[in-house]
Amino acid sequence: MRQTHTGTQKPLPSRPDQRLSSPSTARNIEPIVAVMRQTMPADGEAVELASGTGEHCVRFAAEFPSVTWTPTDVDAQRLDSIRAWIKGSGLSNFNPPMALNAEQPDWPFAHSSMDAAVVVNLLHLVSQDVAVKLFAGVANVLRPGGQWFLYGPFTRGGEFVSEGDRAFHQQLVSQDPAIGYKDTATVTNWASTHGLTVAACHNMPANNLMFVLKKAG
Ligand SMILES: C[S@@+](CC[C@H](N)C(=O)[O-])C[C@H]1O[C@@H](n2cnc3c(N)ncnc32)[C@H](O)[C@@H]1O
Repeated sequence: MRQTHTGTQKPLPSRPDQRLSSPSTARNIEPIVAVMRQTMPADGEAVELASGTGEHCVRFAAEFPSVTWTPTDVDAQRLDSIRAWIKGSGLSNFNPPMALNAEQPDWPFAHSSMDAAVVVNLLHLVSQDVAVKLFAGVANVLRPGGQWFLYGPFTRGGEFVSEGDRAFHQQLVSQDPAIGYKDTATVTNWASTHGLTVAACHNMPANNLMFVLKKAG
């Protein structure tokens, strides 16, 4: 089953130490890391937006140990879970998880301060307005040549890849008419508007895509 909007999703399984688990992470983490391995810088700074449970960011930190990772999320319970996963990982290449609402303009990162950004399964859960703010925010924090790994479900040329994708989009829209799948062409346009180019677009499990967007310069 696909992820649901954060405002309506069922509680995730949690452990006594506040670590939440997302079933989708077990399915998508290795394919995501495999794509990142191809072009991820060996060191530097990386931010994850909408980190969710924190399971992804501890895997990223283990895979890229010379990169300093800053996980973020808008939700306080998820920030607790991220902290618990980091503590349990024993890894030290993290900055403290930060509260960040992608739709707010005051992101707590300097212009051109990040070598990479990662966003997994957020874009379909936000409106077009918020998506544009996300593109502006990521483009602002990436350094020239920095990369954005953007994973999620998309329509392609206005078409759904499967009936399951159409049904999931309709479920999202029934919860909030402003949200739902974005099209690959729209992503390319938003990228171009914000000084990003599509360096690659990978087919991923469960009909998802992973864009690698690169900041010019
Ligand atoms: C479907 S979950 C994905 C979490 C994680 N990236 C993953 O793939 O497991 C969506 C996440 O987006 C976060 N989120 C929703 N709206 C957001 C916003 N405006 N700014 C930042 N995070 C947001 C939620 O709190 C939730 O953790």
